[in-house]
Formats: sequence, C-alpha cells, structure tokens
Amino acid sequence: MSAKPVVGGLRGVSAGETSISTCGKEGFGLSYRGYDIAELAERASFEEVAYLLLYGELPTAAQLNDFTQILIQNRDLPVELREVLERIPANAHPMDVLRTGCSMLGTLEPETDFSQQINVVNRLIAVFPSMLLYWYRFATDGKRISTQSSSPTLAGHFLQLLGDRVPSELHQRAMDVSLVLYAEHEFNASTFAARVCAATLSDMYSAVTAGIGTLRGPLHGGANEAAMELIAKFDSADAARSGVLAMLGRKEKIMGFGHAVYKESDPRNAVIKAWSKRLGDSAGDTQLYAVSEAIDDVMWSEKRLFPNLDFYSASAYHYLGIPTQLFTPIFVCSRITGWAAHVMEQRANNKLIRPAADYTGPAARSFLPMDERA
Ligand code: COA
Repeated sequence: MSAKPVVGGLRGVSAGETSISTCGKEGFGLSYRGYDIAELAERASFEEVAYLLLYGELPTAAQLNDFTQILIQNRDLPVELREVLERIPANAHPMDVLRTGCSMLGTLEPETDFSQQINVVNRLIAVFPSMLLYWYRFATDGKRISTQSSSPTLAGHFLQLLGDRVPSELHQRAMDVSLVLYAEHEFNASTFAARVCAATLSDMYSAVTAGIGTLRGPLHGGANEAAMELIAKFDSADAARSGVLAMLGRKEKIMGFGHAVYKESDPRNAVIKAWSKRLGDSAGDTQLYAVSEAIDDVMWSEKRLFPNLDFYSASAYHYLGIPTQLFTPIFVCSRITGWAAHVMEQRANNKLIRPAADYTGPAARSFLPMDERA
C-alpha cells in the first residue's frame, strides 16, 4: 500500500520546516534568514554570515568581535589529533582527512551535553582549516605548521596556513565571498544527512561527519574538483568547445552544471563568476577563464544547462593558488555553519526522521532448506 507516489530523489518533496534559508523559491533565489545571497556576498563577511546562520540575526560590532575572538581561540589542534593526522597517508583524499579528524575530535572533546552545543559548533568552525592544512602541509612538505596565524578571519587564516604568507586583500576577500556563498543551502543532501543523524539524538560530531561523507561525492560538493579537472584538460577555448561537445555526444555529465532545485540559474553563479574573472585578470591569465566561459556557452546552447556555484569556484580557487584536492574540503570549512544551524534547529523541535519505502522485492514465500536451494 503506497499512500503517495514515489518521487525519485525526493525532488520537490518537503521533508520538514526550516527558518534558516530559502532555496529556489521563485525558481532562482537563495536567502539566508531572509537576506538575499547577492547582498550578503557583497556586504557581509563570512564571520557575520556564520553568526547570522547560528544565532538568527546579523551580529552587532561587539557580538562580531566576540565571535571572531572565540574562533581565533579555538584554532589549536590537540596533540592526539595531530598524531592521528600525521598517520593518515599522504595520498588520502582530504575529505577523508576531515571526516576522520572530525570523528577523532569527537572522541577527545565529546559532546556530552546538548546545552553546550554552540561551543562544539564554534570549535568545529575554527578547527577545520587547522585540521586540513596541518595534515596537508605535513603530507606534502613534511612541515608541522603552527595552526595560529596573524589573520583574524577564517578566509585569511586558511590562505595563510596554506601559503606561509599573508595573502593580498584581493585574495582574502575572494576567499571570504566564496565561504559566504557555500555556507548554507536549505535541505541539500549533506545537510539532510546531518539532520537525519541529529534526529536520532546523536551528537554534533556524528551529524557533521555524516554531512562530510555526503558532501564528498561528485554529484554534490565534489563537483568543484571534477570541474577543475575538466577545465585543466583544455588549452584553449576552441579545444574546450569541441571537447565538451564530444563529451555531451557520449552522454557524459559535465560537473558543475545543472541543479536539483534551481531551474533557470544558480543565484550564486554570477557572484563567483565575476570573482573568477577578477582574479584571472589580476593574475594576467588568459586561458582558464576563457576555457571556463567556452564550456559555459556550450552547455547553455546545447543543453540549456547553467553553471552552478561549483563551476566558477574551480577557476577562482585555482587563481587563489589552492590545490584542487582542497576545493571540496573548503566547502566543509564553510558549510559546517549551515550544517550546525540545521542540527540545532532539528534538535529544538525534534522528530525521528524515518520515511517509508515502496517494496519491489519478491512476494511472501516460505524459507527454503539448504538442500532445496538452486
Ligand atoms: N551534464 C550533462 N547533462 C546533465 C547535467 C550535467 N551536468 N546535469 C543534468 N544533465 C542532464 C541529465 O543527463 C538528464 O538528461 P536525460 O533526461 O537526457 O537523461 C537531465 O539533464 C536531467 O538530469 P538529472 O541528473 O536527472 O537532473 P537532476 O535535477 O536530478 O540533477 C544534478 C541535478 C546536480 C545531480 C545534476 O545536474 C548533475 O549531476 N550535475 C553535475 C554535478 C554537479 O555539478 N553537482 C553540484 C550540484 S550544486
């Protein structure tokens, strides 16, 4: 007996209420707590947006200062976690490193009392860049870096740990905007996974680990890395055009295009595309952005498919000097804010998430003894 028809991938099915964000409500929009994403990307810092998502309102100057200080104070890694990170293979995917690191931190600093959940959340926001870049630098140049930096913002801190120098204002702001764009996206796959986990009254680390594992796949967060790999294959716009046409002819998916909710455009794309162009111009590059635009044109003219946030994030990150395998982990460093806001919202009005399924297996039958089985 099926009460309602099955909708593949639960497209368009409401799975709960949220006051955190709207996504695609008019076919194209995105807002965090009522604020349009374009305005937040233009005017707010990542820390302001994180505060907005977690506490429901934009911070005052004093609140922002306190929040920033808390994040700065939470950047250090426990020695046991550093030891674990050092033992992870150098060729591991950094998403696996974050999944493991998050889980390990949960054994060292467990969340035993949900009334303290915001402390765990702040800790995770502050520590993910440290965790990722401590491992990355140890694995790639054998250096045990300090996880403190002179930068008060997460964007500047991230780039500083990666490159051992204070990044330019332009690079810091580009990174900051990208973190704002990635912070929250309603009931996307990883957030929904985190909420399902939280709804069992599990702990914050488990919910976030579920989010990381879900984000890892190329149909979700992993698309930015896949997009970079594609763009890097072509040395000119013409080569990109014919290469992508050939891929479409073979019915291959082009990562970084299309969206499960947006049908006309991804509202985050215009912002990150403009930043990619700006960074490319400032680097004096004529190839990567041109190749990206050529792919964008072909996808629109051939398939009426538009780039999602991941597509131009790829070239933007590349211009920031970020290695490709760190692209999806940056998504984690930002989306932890959205995941945490959703976990807290789920906990505040919890009901175990347990949908039904339409059975398609064999009809009821008798158990077969071993000697009667084919
Ligand atoms: N490249 C080529 N074709 C694509 C495509 C892409 N990126 N995205 C969708 N399509 C095509 C599908 O092949 C399908 O064609 P068909 O009807 O001939 O079989 C049609 O468009 C519908 O695709 P479907 O995957 O069912 O749409 P969806 O709305 O369920 O999927 C995504 C949304 C995001 C999973 C899908 O667009 C995709 O896989 N994109 C690439 C991965 C990506 O960028 N993910 C990040 C999302 S923010």
